[in-house]
Amino acid sequence: MTAVDPRRNPYSPGAGRPPAALVGRDAEMTEWAIRLDRIEGGLSIQPLALYGLRGVGKTVLLTSMAKEAESRDWVVAQIEAGTDKSLRATLGEALYGPLSDLLRPSAGRRLLRALKTALSFKASYDSSGAWSFGLDLQDAPGGGADSGSLETDLAKLVKDLSAAAAEAGVGLAILIDEAQDLSQEELVAVCATAHKASQEGWAFLLCIAGLPSLPKDVAEAKSYAERLFAFHPITALPTQSAGDALVVPATRAGVRWAAAAVAFTVDEARGYPYFLQQYGQEAWNNASGEVITILDAQVGIARGRTALDNGFFRARWDRATKAEQGYLRAMAEDGDGGSASGAVARRLHRKPASLGPARASLISKGLVYAPEHGRIAFTVPGMADFIARQPDPD
Ligand SMILES: Nc1ncnc2c1ncn2[C@@H]1O[C@H](COP(=O)(O)OP(=O)(O)O)[C@@H](O)[C@H]1O
Ligand SMILES: [Mg+2]
Repeated sequence: MTAVDPRRNPYSPGAGRPPAALVGRDAEMTEWAIRLDRIEGGLSIQPLALYGLRGVGKTVLLTSMAKEAESRDWVVAQIEAGTDKSLRATLGEALYGPLSDLLRPSAGRRLLRALKTALSFKASYDSSGAWSFGLDLQDAPGGGADSGSLETDLAKLVKDLSAAAAEAGVGLAILIDEAQDLSQEELVAVCATAHKASQEGWAFLLCIAGLPSLPKDVAEAKSYAERLFAFHPITALPTQSAGDALVVPATRAGVRWAAAAVAFTVDEARGYPYFLQQYGQEAWNNASGEVITILDAQVGIARGRTALDNGFFRARWDRATKAEQGYLRAMAEDGDGGSASGAVARRLHRKPASLGPARASLISKGLVYAPEHGRIAFTVPGMADFIARQPDPD
């Protein structure tokens, strides 16, 4: 087995696949740790909101934050919006395990209350499958998180769970990925709960992550929400960190990258984590010795491009109907920077209003987002170039 055996390849292209080295996110991890410390010290915090394009590393950052909280024995739920399940059901199910972990033979009053409230929350979306925490909660206080109003029920759940967590010297952390896909009602409920929590000092830490439209979505849901969250843009990595994303995992495996190969790969990937992982993986598989050379990098990038075209980009392109692909082609003329909706309509010789449904469908499929009113942009970096490489439809 050579050092660069594919079996030992440390790179991990793929949605949400944790990288061997999570680089360039120290500021966010520090912000998170400070919040955990503050809550453990009984202080209030501002919830976090992360936003950025697909492939920049929001999900793996959320996972890393969740792990940090778990390592401190917090009650942690990391969930994803926009699946076919409601926030209620997704969150309820995600909390079962961590709540069971809190169980002690000498469960305190606050814990019993939290468990009973969680049971009522569960009953609000699932009348058949009852949970049992193996305790008789008949005479316990709590419950009532099944009024049917999500805002009321979520606040009750979070309040009682944070109180139980605080009793154990920790807190409750909820991390919501793809938050741009929360329904209006869900987003309002999440904002309202976080607002109450920070006013009343509950031991509750929220982090939401989503596309660059997230700040706008949040502001539209609740007028105060703009000031409620600390917003962090998650972007491509600066040169040094991008190089580290390639070099650190290799060094650990006893493999060296030639300096020119690093510079070239970082440049070609434009610092985007997903592309770095893909190119790194291919360069490694192409290398034969203990050093990844510039030639390995060049071949790796060419193969990596093909892999991205056939996967990362193709998967999105194929999700669009023919008419929607026409819309995307018209957008692609403006490159990655986004387009004025009016300009796209002119190119297609259509009235902007008549393109509303195509635009809305592309947004709900997660292919494009509205950075501001009257504008539209791709959710993945490099999509415009990919589209330019696609053969014409006729
Ligand atoms: N900070 C980072 N350092 C190194 N690789 C990263 C980093 N962030 C993300 N990646 C890699 O980039 C890819 C995309 O990450 P992901 O979290 O799915 O992005 P997003 O959720 O923003 O679409 C994954 O292959 C992951 O391993
Ligand atoms: Mg993600």
